[in-house]
Amino acid sequence: MAGDGYRIGVVGATGAVGATILELLAARGFPAREVVPFSSQRSAGTKVHYGGSELECRPLSADAIQGFDLVLSSAGGKVSAEWAPRFVEAGAVVVDNTSFWRMHDDVPLVITEVNPDAAAEHRGIVANPNCSTMQMLVALAPLHRAVGIERIVVSTYQPVSGTGRRAVEELKAQTHALLHDSDAPAAAVYPHRIAFNVLPQVETFKAGDDYTTEERKMMAETRKILGVSEEELKVSATCVRVPVLWGESESVNVQTREPLAPEECRRLLAGAAGVVVVDAPGDGVYPLATEAAGRDEVLVGRIRRDPSHERCLNMWIVGDNLRKGAATNAVQIAELLHQRELVRVPEGARVAAPA
Ligand SMILES: NC(=O)c1ccc[n+]([C@@H]2O[C@H](COP(=O)([O-])OP(=O)(O)OC[C@H]3O[C@@H](n4cnc5c(N)ncnc54)[C@H](OP(=O)(O)O)[C@@H]3O)[C@@H](O)[C@H]2O)c1
Repeated sequence: MAGDGYRIGVVGATGAVGATILELLAARGFPAREVVPFSSQRSAGTKVHYGGSELECRPLSADAIQGFDLVLSSAGGKVSAEWAPRFVEAGAVVVDNTSFWRMHDDVPLVITEVNPDAAAEHRGIVANPNCSTMQMLVALAPLHRAVGIERIVVSTYQPVSGTGRRAVEELKAQTHALLHDSDAPAAAVYPHRIAFNVLPQVETFKAGDDYTTEERKMMAETRKILGVSEEELKVSATCVRVPVLWGESESVNVQTREPLAPEECRRLLAGAAGVVVVDAPGDGVYPLATEAAGRDEVLVGRIRRDPSHERCLNMWIVGDNLRKGAATNAVQIAELLHQRELVRVPEGARVAAPA
């Protein structure tokens, strides 16, 4: 860092996650001497907000990526596959929001409340986990540390903002048309109409797999972050898209190694960083997507014994997919790298793209 802060690139600055990253960098006072927003060629010249100022987006190019200390990238896997290593080669540390680098051996996958020490292993890229995995583990890691978790069965209820700006527009346009007795515009972002519907598909089915890529991510990323094998922790995920704009909800069944009473679970979570227990169901008090939207914490409630198994609890976990699920954790990783003097590319570091 040169005196008054870092030179920071924000790739995907016109997107849902990128805009939130810019907002949080300014709001949290991250030390920056210059912030440069990048978009595709399409949006070059578009103005984006950073604190009280407006910044003009630039397209990525060999010249434009020179001279950065830190880059926060959320422009999709293809962009990160190509440009993250190029930024690293030019001397910047990249915090990447896409799925491209997450399972790479040389790339730590970090949730700041769960495995911050992993960040020290970076070779230029630190990956930000998938939003569904992120909010689930902020809530479950304290239980895993206390009593061990051997099995998780999760169903997600994911908002359209998780697919980016175009999906938000698609839900709004379809809903508006149907409420005005018109035909809904044809589905473009999703395989079916999302308005007044529920889709048991988040992302895609790769050839031959009956789980989606989102479900596979939840299973694999959970184990990488907790540092456990498939034998040590079984995870089963069903990911569902619902016609909600912001805030992701998850129904989670957890089987612990040691017995854990619901009261003890609430006590552990009440003391956990980044978690708020919202659990008085008799009074209608439980986590809601509308309450989580715009907040950095993960809300947990409906904590109850699973009557079918003595070491299982059920709970309802809700977070803002754009905040803790993406931008907040990315900025917290940047803060962690700054605090631990890790905003530097180790000598000779090269991160090669997976074959
Ligand atoms: N939304 C979430 O809740 C969430 C959570 C976690 C992770 N993520 C991940 O974050 C990434 C972005 O998601 P999003 O929801 O913010 O998507 P989005 O709203 O669609 O934004 C995409 C951004 O990427 C830029 N972009 C696209 N192609 C580009 C290119 N060739 N070169 C440079 N920039 C390019 C777009 O710029 P233009 O304006 O020029 O098109 C835009 O700024 C994805 O990989 C997603 O999986 C999203």
